[in-house]
Amino acid sequence: MKRALTPGTFDPITAGHIEIITRASRTFDEVIVAVAASPKKNPLFSLDERVALAREALKDVPNVRVEPFTGLLVDFAREMEATVAVKGLRAITDFEYEFQQTALNYQLDPQLETIFIMSSPEYMYLSSSVVREIASYHGSVEQFVPACVNEALQKKFA
Ligand code: PNS
Repeated sequence: MKRALTPGTFDPITAGHIEIITRASRTFDEVIVAVAASPKKNPLFSLDERVALAREALKDVPNVRVEPFTGLLVDFAREMEATVAVKGLRAITDFEYEFQQTALNYQLDPQLETIFIMSSPEYMYLSSSVVREIASYHGSVEQFVPACVNEALQKKFA
C-alpha cells in the first residue's frame, strides 16, 4: 500500500491542483490531499471551506481523500502513514521555494520522500493567487476552477 500526500494551502483549489492530484492518484494506491492551515498566508477561505471545496471538486476520484492539518507536514505524513509528498512544479519560478521546502523536510524526516510532477503547459501559469485576484475584480475564472469554487468565489466577492 503506497500512500502519498499532496500538500498545499488550496486557497482555493484550482484546475491545476486537480490535474496534479489526479495524475498522482494514478501512481499511488491512495492520495491524501493535505490542506494546510497556513495561518501566515491569511487565507481568503477558512480551513473548513478549503477542505469542503477540495472534497467536492475531487469527489469522483476514487483513491483520493482530503484532510486538514495544522502542524508540520512531516508530522502529518507520519500520522497518515504516508511516505511520499507529491508537489506540482510549474515554471522555473517555483523551483527555489520548492527546493528549500524539500531540503528542510528531508532534514526533518528523511523517511518522507518528495517528488515532483510537472504541470501540463495548460496550467503552467495558473495559481490560487491569480484566481483570487481575477475573482476579486469580478473577472471570470470559470475555466480555471471547478464549478463549486467558481460559485464560492462569486459569493465571497459579491
Ligand atoms: O500551496 P502552498 O501554500 O505553496 O503549500 C505550502 C505548504 C502548505 C506545502 C507548506 O507551507 C507546508 O508544508 N506547510 C506546513 C508547515 C511545514 O511543514 N513547514 C515546514 C516546511 S519547510
